[in-house]
Amino acid sequence: MANVLHEYNEFRYHLMEEEDEKKRLKMIRKELKEDLDKERYEHTMGVANTAVSLAMSVSYDYHKAFLAGLLHDCAKCIPNPEKITICENNGIEITEIEYENPSLLHSKLGALLAREKYGVSDEEILGSIIYHTTGKPDMNLLEKIIFVADYIEPGRDKQPNLTELRALAFHDLDQAVYRISGDTLEYLKKKELTLDPMTQKTYEYYQEWIKKR
Ligand SMILES: [Fe+2]
Ligand SMILES: [Fe+2]
Repeated sequence: MANVLHEYNEFRYHLMEEEDEKKRLKMIRKELKEDLDKERYEHTMGVANTAVSLAMSVSYDYHKAFLAGLLHDCAKCIPNPEKITICENNGIEITEIEYENPSLLHSKLGALLAREKYGVSDEEILGSIIYHTTGKPDMNLLEKIIFVADYIEPGRDKQPNLTELRALAFHDLDQAVYRISGDTLEYLKKKELTLDPMTQKTYEYYQEWIKKR
C-alpha cells in the first residue's frame, strides 16, 4: 500500500510540474507577444516549432529546444541605442562591428534577458541564443538546432536553396550548418552588409569537419 501511495504521489508531483511548465511557457509567450512585433512573434513560433521537430529527429530534449526557440529573438525589437546601453550597463562586451551594427547585439542581449527576465539558467539554452545568428565552431546539439531552425523555419522565403536545406537539416544537421553558414556569407558579401567574423569561422570549421568525418 505504501508503495502504491508513493507512486501515486510521484505521479501527482510530475503532473503538477508539467502544469507549472505549461503555465510558465504560456506566460513567456504572452510577454513575447508584447515585446516583439507581429512578424517577429510569428517567426519566433516558427523557430520554436521547427526546433522541436529537429530535436525529435536527433533524439534531443524537445522541451529545451522549444524554450530556446521561443527565446532566441527575445531582444530583437529593443531599439538599437537601448541595446548598446543595456549591454554596457551589464558588462557585456561590445565589439567594433557590433557598435557599427547594434542589431547584431540581439543575440548576446537575448541570452541576458532569457536569464534575467525569463529565469532561464540552463547554459545550453543560453548558449544557443548567443550563437543563433553567427553559429560558432564546434557547436553542441542545441546550438546547431537553433542556428538551423532560425534559417529554415516555414515563414522564411527569401533565402536561396530553402527547399533543399529544409530536407537536409532533418538527415544531416552538420551539413546543414555548413551550407547555411556558406549561403549566409555569400548573401552578406553580395549585399555588402556587415559580416561578423564568427560566421566565417563557423563556415571554415564545418567545411573542415565535413571533409574529415
Ligand atoms: Fe535573431
Ligand atoms: Fe530569429
